[in-house]
Amino acid sequence: MGENTTPTSTRDLVWMPAWTRAQGEQRARSHLSQALGVDADGVWSAPGQLTIIGEHTDYNNGLTLPTITPHRTFVAAKLRDDDRVRMASDNAVFDDNGGQVWEGTLDSISAETAAGWPSYAAGVLWALQEHGLTGKGVDLGIVSCVPWSTGLSNSASVEAAVARAMNDLWKLSLDSEAGLSELAEACTDGENQIARMATGGLGQHAVLRCHDNEAILLDFRDSIPDATACPLYFPDYGLAMLVIDTMVRFHIPGGVSGMRKEECMRAAEELGLSSLRDLHHDPARLNRLVELSDETLRKRARHVYSENDRVMLVKEELSGTGPAHERFVSIGKALSRSHTSLAADFEVSCPELDLAVQAASMAGALGARMVGGGFGGPAVALIRRSLAERTAHAIAQAFRDHGYDDPHFLLV
Ligand code: GLA
Repeated sequence: MGENTTPTSTRDLVWMPAWTRAQGEQRARSHLSQALGVDADGVWSAPGQLTIIGEHTDYNNGLTLPTITPHRTFVAAKLRDDDRVRMASDNAVFDDNGGQVWEGTLDSISAETAAGWPSYAAGVLWALQEHGLTGKGVDLGIVSCVPWSTGLSNSASVEAAVARAMNDLWKLSLDSEAGLSELAEACTDGENQIARMATGGLGQHAVLRCHDNEAILLDFRDSIPDATACPLYFPDYGLAMLVIDTMVRFHIPGGVSGMRKEECMRAAEELGLSSLRDLHHDPARLNRLVELSDETLRKRARHVYSENDRVMLVKEELSGTGPAHERFVSIGKALSRSHTSLAADFEVSCPELDLAVQAASMAGALGARMVGGGFGGPAVALIRRSLAERTAHAIAQAFRDHGYDDPHFLLV
């Protein structure tokens, strides 16, 4: 195990470094041969995802602006000549199904037979077959350095790496933009139906369709979201995104998005809209909120339309030509407003996330917000790269002062 591959502590800080491609591929190959006794035909990988802005908008037919992490999931795979499926994962948190090896057949995959950690990878095999795409059975060895935290789409990363492997092994030729969208839809269907987590598809489309050093504007208005790439040049200006993993883990059956989706649909229905996305362009939207039957629905709707506005603002600032410093300040403010909205209106934050955001801002971040579904997981702060250590220290100290466990950090 190389120095680069495990959490490292610098002056009491825990950093989560990304594996190099070579390290990840080697680990995946070794894991497949140790756990299942076979040599891989190849290794496929997919990154994690970090939403710059646009949280809880995907399942409201809205807008979101994600990028990808240097941290990736690697899947070593060997095609079989029967219809069996064997999967092994080295991730300790995957122990929830009583073991790290799962065995079944292609046609026996269901939410019941693949419950627990295998559901994410097996769900992809199930969904591809539902889409009429199939082939022989497969052995899979799965390893990942994407922190197991819903906010960074670890599950989408596993799904996408498996989808890429099956695309090649089953010769599906889904390599075009439309093909990758189809793979992303299969990953989303698998997570919804087999893992029974209500994902809106943000993570799946981001990890399959976003390239290094860019963000993509995903527009979920249509059933296959439109993606517009935009360059992400924070490093050229000495900036970085510091991810603060609060290490708070939670389990809500069906996920946070499932819980909030129901409220958002109710709000849209009361307003006579097909989704809350329709409020985005409505000049009378503030007045329309009073039509809603209760304050909770008003708050949910306000978050969705204001978050869609912030996504467009950040996208425009990234593509803009004005003075860079002013654009970064504006982006930072939008991130912080997003957090306020997620905490006050969407009510999916928690004290640790609020503290991470507050401590990052006090340490000089341009802006900060919680990331992902909420109630735990990570926050992200837009910072000067040279101040990463100092900012992380300030946040870690704030956590200690509050008696919270030490957060973990990574840079994107
Ligand atoms: C979860 C879901 C995503 C998205 C985010 C919130 O991670 O899986 O589809 O809804 O929450 O933005």
